Formats: sequence, C-alpha cells, structure tokens
Amino acid sequence: LVLVLDFGSRHNQLIGRKVREAEVYSEVLPYHASIDKIKAMNPKGIIFIGDSDSIKEPGAKLCDKGVFELGVPILGICYGMHLINSIMGGSFKKVQWEGGKNDICLEGKSRLFEKLEGDTTGWMNSSYLADSLPEGFEVTARLKNGEIAAIENEEKKLYGVQFHPELSDTPKGKDILKNFLYNICGCRGDWKMSSFVEESIKEIKEKVGDKKVLCALSGGVDSSVAAVMIHKAIGKQLTCIFVDHGLLRKDEGDQVEELFRKQYDINLVRVNAQDRFLDKLKGVTDPERKRKIIGEEFIRVFEEEAKKIGKVDFLVQGTIYPDVIESGAGDGAVIKSHHNVGGLPDHVDFKEIIEPLRNLFKEEVRKAGLELGIPEDMVMRQPFPGPGLGIRIIGEITREKLDILREADYIFREEIKRAGLDREVNQYFTVLTNMRSVGVKDDKRTYDYTLALRAVKTTDFMTAKWAKLPYDLLERVSDRIVNEVGHINRIVYDITGKPPATIEWE
Ligand code: XMP
Repeated sequence: LVLVLDFGSRHNQLIGRKVREAEVYSEVLPYHASIDKIKAMNPKGIIFIGDSDSIKEPGAKLCDKGVFELGVPILGICYGMHLINSIMGGSFKKVQWEGGKNDICLEGKSRLFEKLEGDTTGWMNSSYLADSLPEGFEVTARLKNGEIAAIENEEKKLYGVQFHPELSDTPKGKDILKNFLYNICGCRGDWKMSSFVEESIKEIKEKVGDKKVLCALSGGVDSSVAAVMIHKAIGKQLTCIFVDHGLLRKDEGDQVEELFRKQYDINLVRVNAQDRFLDKLKGVTDPERKRKIIGEEFIRVFEEEAKKIGKVDFLVQGTIYPDVIESGAGDGAVIKSHHNVGGLPDHVDFKEIIEPLRNLFKEEVRKAGLELGIPEDMVMRQPFPGPGLGIRIIGEITREKLDILREADYIFREEIKRAGLDREVNQYFTVLTNMRSVGVKDDKRTYDYTLALRAVKTTDFMTAKWAKLPYDLLERVSDRIVNEVGHINRIVYDITGKPPATIEWE
C-alpha cells in the first residue's frame, strides 16, 4: 500500500488513481491523520500532495512529524515538497509568475528520474519555490531559469517535486511515479482488479456467513456492481429491491429485471410504484420539491417492501471511494443526498451496513463490473440521476409528458450510439420544456412542446462543456423526433457549459 496524504489538493483523488493505475494499491488520508493510523496501514511509501498554499502562513497544514521517522520513502508534490523542505530546515521564496507548463532540466542521477532522458516539462501552479535546501539535500531538477524544481535526500528517502506528476500536462509524470513506486518504495505493481474482486468476494463471504443481506438496486452502475459482487459471494442470501418509480428511461425497468432475475438469478423484488409517485408529484413544479418528494417516497416504498422481508443482518450501501475521501477519508462516509436518492432508510431492520465498493474509484467500479461479467453496456452507462426523468420535465410531471420524453430520449441515445459517440460524450439526454409554440404539420397549425437536447463532455461532472455534436447527427435526431414522437414541434440544442448552467435543467 502507498499512502497519499492530502494537504488540501484538488488532485488528491487523481494521484490516488494514478498510483492504482500503476497497479499499486493506494489510499488517501487527510494530512492530519494520526501517526497510529498511518503506522497501522504499514505503507511502503507516502506521497504528500498539496497545491499552492503557503507553508509560511499561520495555521499552515502540517502532518504528524512522526511520519518522517517511519523510514518510509516520501514523495512531496508541490506543497508537499515545501513541507519536506521546510521541516528539514530549508527555505523558500514567493515568486511572481503565471503557473503552467515549464521546462524542467534534470540534474545528477536521481532514482526518481531514472531512464528519463534529457529534459522534460512539468505542470506547476505554486507561487512559492525552494530557495535554500536543508543539509543533506541536493537539487535534482531545475527550471530553465535556474530555479529549483526537484530536491532529494536519498539517504533519508525524501523526494520533492515542484511540478505535478499526476497531471497529463507532465508527460513523463507516469514514469516518475513508477520510479518512485517500484524503484524507491520497492512495490511490485501486482494490484489487479481480478484479485481485488476475488478478495472482496472472499471477505463478503466471511463477513456475512449465513446471514441475510438487503440491497436497493437502482439499475445504475454502482448498485449493480455491488449487487452482483455480493450475489457471487452469498447467492440467495441476498435480496434486491428495485423500486420502479416510473421515472426511468424507456424499457429500463424491464432491462434491470431481465439482467438480475433472469441472467443472474438474483432474488429480486420489483416494486411497480409508478402510480404512487405520480400521485405524489401531481401539481408539483418546483425542482427541489420534486427531488424531495421522489427521495422520500423512494424510502417509504423501500421500507414497506423491506418490512415484508423482515429482519435482515446487512444493508448494502453503494458508497464508493470518492465519497469516503470527501467525507474525511475513512472516518465514516457521509452520503450526499444529491447522489443517492433519499439516503438511508430509517425504518429498515438491519444490523450493519455493508459497502463492497468502498475502496474503489468510479472507473475501478466499472472495471470490477467487467471482471464480474456484467455486460459492457450496463457497466459503461452514463450517469442517470436518482430522481430520473422527474427532473427532466420542466413544470408538472404527467404520464403523457413522461411518455413523450421517454420516446424522444430513446431516439437521441440511439443516434448518439449509432454515431459511435456514446463513450466520447459523457452525458446526453433530452429535456421536455414546459414551453409550447406554434408549428405546422400536414398543412395544419400545431401548438406543441419544445424539446431540448443536452450533451456534455466532462471528467468530474462539477464542470462541463457542451459537446460539439456534428450537425448531421443533430439533423437526424431532430427529424426522427418530430416525426416519430407526437406533441413535439420544436427542438433546441443546449449550448451552455457548466458553469453557468448545470448539466441537468432542474
Ligand atoms: P448538475 O445538474 O448538478 O449534475 O450539473 C451533475 C451530475 O449529477 C447528476 N444529478 C443528480 N444525481 N440525484 C442524483 O442522483 C440528483 O438529484 C441529481 N441532480 C443531478 C447529473 O445527472 C449529473 O451527472
């Protein structure tokens, strides 16, 4: 295991992922993690990651000094390098410059830069640079203007880089990380998804024994992978409840049922609660109220069904590693209501929560799904919000509007896939606006809905760019929707990024 200590960097998860991509298992802890906790993890190496904070400011982020006494190699990135430098007795200075890509000239024979020929470039964003070095340290790389870009003390196994090796703007970053992990920390690089899945199944088996497990299945990637993993471990001791709230995409409910009941033979309870949800949503137009109603109703339906099953020992929660990191790394996951419809039920009789994906990043959840033999289409799906089409119908939700939206959305998704763009565009869907306008069909006046197409490219869904879909694709989609779906006579394409817009319209 290689431990990432996070000093408030935007790249805390990225560096964790990059280490795992080098097939070394990593975990991310906040910088103030206790030395006992760190010792107990027995890391083979530690990476300090921080951004442009100043270590000179009062209240600067410091880790337990004991970390330096473990004798474990440490790689300090950016603020992490400043920390090593200053704790060991060096100094640094503030500089006026625009961060960005910089030429890096390697000096000497650092093991960190082994097999890196000549000079390279690195992404830097700090306004502080090392000035003088502590005793026993040497400079291993400089910027073109002579400023210090990397330092080390080989004997103490302390290494610092001013630039960010985890970013793609540092082209040799991967090699630098591998040098640290393999050459310096002595990791073997044998962390494989197949063995992780195997191990997890074994652990679940041991933990659950002959007890009962209950899982809320949404049909999304996380809950599907969690359910299949647990099913592989304990078979019929697992029961899944799938609440069909009627706000799903075309044929989605049947697909979920087909896959889990028929293909995997999982105990599946499908609750067709469409009417209940529509009843509750009657006349409601405010987006946040819609979300709240859908979330609460979801919990209620789930609880009612769970009651019929009776006491269970474990309830599955689809927490993934980013949730764990964001909630303070391992000190109990806080579930964001935004991402999980309704959060946890209050009135389900269970003893313990089981979180089979707790240690996996999103991309790793997908890989685990593939390892488990879940069809690629299911594992690679775009995100779909818990409140479903409920937040893609502006204004009141009705059965008629849901039917219109479902058909239009299906055509859009089908055409995106046919154009081979379904992996390239990260989220794409249609929105039924509550605006109607005048049109003409078969020489007759129409007064029908305007439909919006939304397609975005994003890596983290926190910011996004609208996707520049080819005009002929947009034309095909538009022609098909107005011809094949009733009550839509105008189609617009949303050309706003996030910010200022959000990805969803509500
Ligand atoms: P926004 O619209 O906030 O969406 O830019 C960012 C990502 O989150 C999804 N999303 C939701 N997911 N419940 C969810 O489970 C919600 O209420 C919700 N609202 C937005 C959205 O689809 C996008 O992927």
